Amino acid sequence: MQTRHLSADPSGFDAAAGLLRDGALVAFPTETVYGLGGDARSDIAVARIFEAKQRPQFNPLIVHVNSIESAQEYVEWPDMADHVARAFWPGPLTLVLPLRPDAGLSPLVTAGLPTVAIRVPAHPVAQALLAAFGGPVAAPSANPSGRISPTNAAHVEAGLGGRIAGILDGGTCGVGVESTILGLSDTPTLLRPGGLPVEALEAALNMPLEKHISGDPLTAPGQMASHYAPGARVRLEALGKQPGEVLLGFGAVEADLNLSPAGDLTEAAANLFHHLHALDAMGADVIAVSPVPDQGLGRAINDRLRRAAAPRFDS
Ligand code: TXA
Ligand code: MG
Repeated sequence: MQTRHLSADPSGFDAAAGLLRDGALVAFPTETVYGLGGDARSDIAVARIFEAKQRPQFNPLIVHVNSIESAQEYVEWPDMADHVARAFWPGPLTLVLPLRPDAGLSPLVTAGLPTVAIRVPAHPVAQALLAAFGGPVAAPSANPSGRISPTNAAHVEAGLGGRIAGILDGGTCGVGVESTILGLSDTPTLLRPGGLPVEALEAALNMPLEKHISGDPLTAPGQMASHYAPGARVRLEALGKQPGEVLLGFGAVEADLNLSPAGDLTEAAANLFHHLHALDAMGADVIAVSPVPDQGLGRAINDRLRRAAAPRFDS
């Protein structure tokens, strides 16, 4: 793939917005780090983010919007969210809030969680892109998984050149570390220290924050064993279906639903959460799942499937 370098001017913003509308990926500057953006409503665009980064797991992503009003379309909005958002947005603060049922975001963005991380970036180029696109943009840092976050367009090119459709060049990021993440779906909790000092948040809230830093295996959502849990049990590596089972297929198999009849892992990732929900809704006791190759996005798919199949703690 040829990665287009787009300049930070109206024609560059239009071209970048057009790529996002096509489900393609565009790296863009924020005040913290460059983000790898895709349409947060599109399963295929979000699957492409994980594929481009070669992430082994579907960690939930941050959704970028350009105003408090547009954030309210996607999340529940308690008073405390309003208070900190009015104090610190646009800026390097991400809020984790309950997902609205009518939000219309791809379930891959939230990794199936009932909450979503959302922020309004302050960088004028990010603001211009969001305005030109007119929708929510999912964006993790624009680096391959396991590498450090990019703070200029050359970093992005070095890490992801040839794997993404475009890079919107807005110079060097001012903040250089990722946003501070504040969980507000429950007791206010610091989930990641970042570009906005914790002291400033505590002063604005007039209270000390609980701290559950990401990477802590008990609190990092992507790391819990039984993380996405359908009502049905899940049987992996199924070569066919037994009585009472529904089959989630992959490749050329007779199945109730198929992740990708053609055996395309990007398509399979995009379909994964939707199909699991749909099969669960059929009321079967067991969802049997065809083997999925453990390579590329298949590793992330198998990671999610193993979590879905893991023993529950509620029995
Ligand atoms: O500064 C930043 O925040 C950059 C720029 C591009 O905006 N983005 C960024 O995204 O750092 P990412 O995907 O690298 O980090 C997302 C973090 C992860 O640690 C993830 O676990 C957490 O946000 N997160 C996302 N959704 C969450 C949720 N629903 N609950 C708890 N944590 C969540
Ligand atoms: Mg990152």
